[in-house]
Amino acid sequence: MKNLKKSPSQTSNVVLAIDDLKGYYKGTFGVVFAVDGVSFKINRGEIVGISGESGCGKTTLAELISGTYVPVLHYEGGTIMIEDSNICEIDEETLRKDVCCKILAYVPQASMNSLNPVKKIKNFILDVMTERTGVKPDKTKVLKFVINHFETLGLDKTVLERYPHELSGGMKQRTIIAISTLWNPNLLIVDEPTSALDVTTQKLLIKMLLNLKNVGIIGTIIFISHDIPTLRQICDRCIIMYAGRIAEDGTMEDIINSPLHPYTKGLISSIVSFNPDGSPESDLGSIPGQPPDLRFPPSGCRFHPRCPECMPICKTEHPPFFEPINKEHPVRCWLYK
Ligand SMILES: Nc1ncnc2c1ncn2[C@@H]1O[C@H](COP(=O)(O)OP(=O)(O)OP(=O)(O)O)[C@@H](O)[C@H]1O
Ligand code: SF4
Ligand SMILES: [Mg+2]
Repeated sequence: MKNLKKSPSQTSNVVLAIDDLKGYYKGTFGVVFAVDGVSFKINRGEIVGISGESGCGKTTLAELISGTYVPVLHYEGGTIMIEDSNICEIDEETLRKDVCCKILAYVPQASMNSLNPVKKIKNFILDVMTERTGVKPDKTKVLKFVINHFETLGLDKTVLERYPHELSGGMKQRTIIAISTLWNPNLLIVDEPTSALDVTTQKLLIKMLLNLKNVGIIGTIIFISHDIPTLRQICDRCIIMYAGRIAEDGTMEDIINSPLHPYTKGLISSIVSFNPDGSPESDLGSIPGQPPDLRFPPSGCRFHPRCPECMPICKTEHPPFFEPINKEHPVRCWLYK
């Protein structure tokens, strides 16, 4: 499969279309139904957040989309269309050479540990270039290009002369994002890029991602985070996952101000906000119970054992998407039938 990369003018408005995607972990521990029938589309130019409690399947979903999973995770069905190509049908070699970093760049959770501790950043980049292209790059030409890219993103070129241990966590994270976007990917997926950073460093990273989009290096971003206030700083839209499935999908403002799904309502009401005197703005809500063990997911709506509004149908039937307000705000909940 050649020439997968296309310019925006040649393609439709949809960058990523996922339909009924399933990915399960299989081992001596049993079968974990981690991503179980996920469908959504992402349009060119959007910055979309994916959120939900720990263990709901965010990272598994990102690994399936990027094709970076190892055998214990198995693709079990569905389609992943990136631009016009079904990634599920592409062989590993094409995925690595033609898709990875060029069409889709994935910055995994805890990726700041992925730099080589015994190599200067510039030598690490040269190695990555050799691995991606299969040929040794022209060192002078490549470094000139890399310096230009780093400076566009507000990263000092001296970073290239340093070893990973000489960089702060925030600087490592921004360096990895800079490296991942050297090939101007159409879509960038970042998984919890800010969760190990302090608030000031988080803001720097978010500024860098916005800059990447503003200068046209990347067009579309998926930002995975369990932290909705962080997502609010950067995302146009937010997809809420619960127990391997999508609960609700809407604009960032609608998810925060007018959530529809009882799970989203619980998530939003558990966010702390403070009055100027430091006291909590309102009584914090919480979601009763624990997320399920995904080896034994509840029948029907997976949220039903914790849902304050559970009805008999919820225990047996998995709700389809309903669109009670508009088609930009689908929700999987029987309350909206
Ligand atoms: N290697 C693995 N083997 C077996 N089960 C796994 C493995 N990795 C993840 N899981 C399970 O798959 C489910 C989804 O995990 P995943 O890491 O995708 O969640 P997540 O939403 O990214 O969580 P977090 O917010 O903590 O990063 C969880 O139930 C988890 O326990
Ligand atoms: S489908 Fe039923 S159990 Fe699930 S969130 Fe809606 S009301 Fe609650
Ligand atoms: Mg994760």
